[in-house]
Amino acid sequence: MHAIVAEHLRKEYPKRSAQPLWRRRGPAERFTAVEDVSFEVRAGEVFGLLGPNGAGKTTTIRMIATLLEPSAGRALVAGFDTVRQPAEVRRRLGAVLAGERSLYWKLTGRENLQYFAVLYDVPASRVRARVEELLQRFDLAARADELVERYSTGMKQRLSIARALLADPPVLLLDEPTLGLDPQSARNLREIIREIAAEGRTVLLTTHYMEEADQLSDRIAIMDKGRIVALDTPERLKARLDQEAVVRLWLTGGDGRLRESLLAVPGVTAVQVDDAPAPDDPRRVTVQGAELRGALPSLVAAAAAAGARTDRVEIDEPTLEDVFLHLTGRALRD
Ligand SMILES: Nc1ncnc2c1ncn2[C@@H]1O[C@H](COP(=O)(O)OP(=O)(O)O)[C@@H](O)[C@H]1O
Ligand SMILES: [Mg+2]
Repeated sequence: MHAIVAEHLRKEYPKRSAQPLWRRRGPAERFTAVEDVSFEVRAGEVFGLLGPNGAGKTTTIRMIATLLEPSAGRALVAGFDTVRQPAEVRRRLGAVLAGERSLYWKLTGRENLQYFAVLYDVPASRVRARVEELLQRFDLAARADELVERYSTGMKQRLSIARALLADPPVLLLDEPTLGLDPQSARNLREIIREIAAEGRTVLLTTHYMEEADQLSDRIAIMDKGRIVALDTPERLKARLDQEAVVRLWLTGGDGRLRESLLAVPGVTAVQVDDAPAPDDPRRVTVQGAELRGALPSLVAAAAAAGARTDRVEIDEPTLEDVFLHLTGRALRD
């Protein structure tokens, strides 16, 4: 049996309107945040939902967590329906969802875990040992008696994950687990997620960081505008772009015609112009197409026509960001 199943999930919201409520006329306009999303997560798998802001990742994970009711379709956790059997579902999953105040800031780390252990029906005789074990494991023991409001973002996030694991659920849902963390804390947290998966737990995570999805996930569903646009292992997603499909140019200068000029080169299918790190630095431009090796002189000429000097050119390994650009014509980053 699959740990998680999403079947044609759909979620509509009333359209967010600039008009105040009392000025609106007629029925509220609807906006479809998630449309026909289907996937199956095997037991023990790490499954990533990757997509830009607004893609519908949080909405999807909240439906699976029983916190939002689907407008259509259904979700199952360990075979239980999230709408008809929410208690059975909740008993089997732990969740750390973005933007949710899942901790009491005026309690200590230890007090938080003790409180939630009781709430989650951890047997009274086991609460103390379970809390200590999680504090140790998530490297929180030394600061366990400090108020959570004094914790760093990384510590709060580790404590939230410890809270989600209190009742030893087989399934863990993580919404943007490393958002807002410094690189070191993010690396540390990814290591923790790998360990949780190695224990045999099923992990469903959302992220808009392609490296994170790539490093952690056994399989990835790429989401855009409420739909899944591709679903596969990271390796197979990248293998969709063949060897001469991605060229990186490092360009200095250039004007507003740059993207159009490169797109006009025969064979080019997509162009992404990154921002320069500093105004006079070279910026990275990704060009996609078929068999681009032969097109390199034309690309340099096209850049020059838009006022840009080419400092360096390379044919590069595709990343998941390239896969997203290939599928949507847009950059994954905002
Ligand atoms: N409560 C809501 N009411 C109206 N629109 C919403 C609501 N929550 C999310 N949305 C919209 O739904 C879309 C998907 O949002 P979300 O699921 O949060 O995407 P993601 O997590 O991928 O950034 C966005 O356009 C967002 O603005
Ligand atoms: Mg989100």
